[in-house]
Amino acid sequence: MAKSSSKVRCAVIGLGMGWHHCKAFSECPEAEIVGLVDLNADQHNKVKEFAPNATFYTDYKEMLKQEKPDLVTIALPNFLHAKVAIDAMKAGANVLGEKPMALNTKEAIKMRDTAEKLGKKLGINLSYRFTPQARALKDMADQGFLGDPYHAFSKWTRLDGFPRFGGWFGQHEFSGGGPLIDLGVHRIDLALWLMGSPSPVTVSGMAHKQIGVPRAKKQKLKFDVEDFATGFVRFDNGASLVFEISWGNFQQKQEDMYTKVTGTKGALIHHNPGDGYDFNAEYVTEEAGHVVHGEISQTRGALRSSYAEMVHCIIDDRPFLASPEDGIHIQQILDGLYKSAKLGREVKV
Ligand SMILES: NC(=O)c1ccc[n+]([C@@H]2O[C@H](COP(=O)([O-])OP(=O)(O)OC[C@H]3O[C@@H](n4cnc5c(N)ncnc54)[C@H](O)[C@@H]3O)[C@@H](O)[C@H]2O)c1
Repeated sequence: MAKSSSKVRCAVIGLGMGWHHCKAFSECPEAEIVGLVDLNADQHNKVKEFAPNATFYTDYKEMLKQEKPDLVTIALPNFLHAKVAIDAMKAGANVLGEKPMALNTKEAIKMRDTAEKLGKKLGINLSYRFTPQARALKDMADQGFLGDPYHAFSKWTRLDGFPRFGGWFGQHEFSGGGPLIDLGVHRIDLALWLMGSPSPVTVSGMAHKQIGVPRAKKQKLKFDVEDFATGFVRFDNGASLVFEISWGNFQQKQEDMYTKVTGTKGALIHHNPGDGYDFNAEYVTEEAGHVVHGEISQTRGALRSSYAEMVHCIIDDRPFLASPEDGIHIQQILDGLYKSAKLGREVKV
């Protein structure tokens, strides 16, 4: 922490999703927002209430030079994640970067190596880990409920939930991919986390472009990424993962999220029973020859936001819950899926 302040001096770069970063820091007594950055000055107005004393910049490099923040959070389009994180760490800041970690594994490894070389903390905002349901499931997995986890199924599919055509989310050069790199990151992460973070070895999959590309073409707007991805992953410990991720396909619900990890003693499930972002944590096991299942109501209670947690990691000098290695494993699966889809065969990670 900077000597002049007892608080962790935070800066937020990118003020779309960054709105949530600003709100969370404003609710964290140990944090002080000193810098806000966006190319679009209108975005500043939306977050001013959370940080009336913070200086607004349109150039993040100037902000790093002037403010010398302890912590920088990055909520920029995906193609900027690696570059800005590395610049921020070189300027002396710790970094909490939005998911996905980067555009690809190569960039993600460069980020991790920079953090290690400079002795900076680098967290990835795999924010679903911070939901009480996911934490409760993780506690059960850590206590051995699953036995030996050997398979996971994970999905996040939408009936119709495309980002705006013509925007960066739907252009490969800026986003690195479609729903797989946008929504899939969260569900693949939950599966890997509950399985105990095995390393991916091979990936096989498909990336379909049946809906988004033709629709965007009709509107004469840019969109060149998949709208549906499905994959099969083998891990170093013999476990497997199957996933389905989409921004649009025929299904009953608007949002369908479901992650199930199966082990030798039981299964753990994280899903949205309704059509929104309310989650259930459930278990299935066997007792005295009978199948038993139910909802997990015990949680650790209120959790810190991922942003406040990062502030505390800096104060206590401990690692963030989602590490660069976690981000790299996910990125390897994404790279593998896109390569497999292109080549039409299973690929090594
Ligand atoms: N953890 C989550 O659940 C979650 C949720 C939503 C978005 N995200 C991630 O957050 C990131 C941002 O997504 P978003 O929805 O806010 O996108 P967005 O396009 O709405 O916002 C990005 C902002 O960055 C600004 N910007 C672009 N280039 C810039 C530059 N060079 N310097 C400064 N500002 C610049 C834009 O003006 C815009 O305000 C993405 O990587 C996305 O995947 C994560």
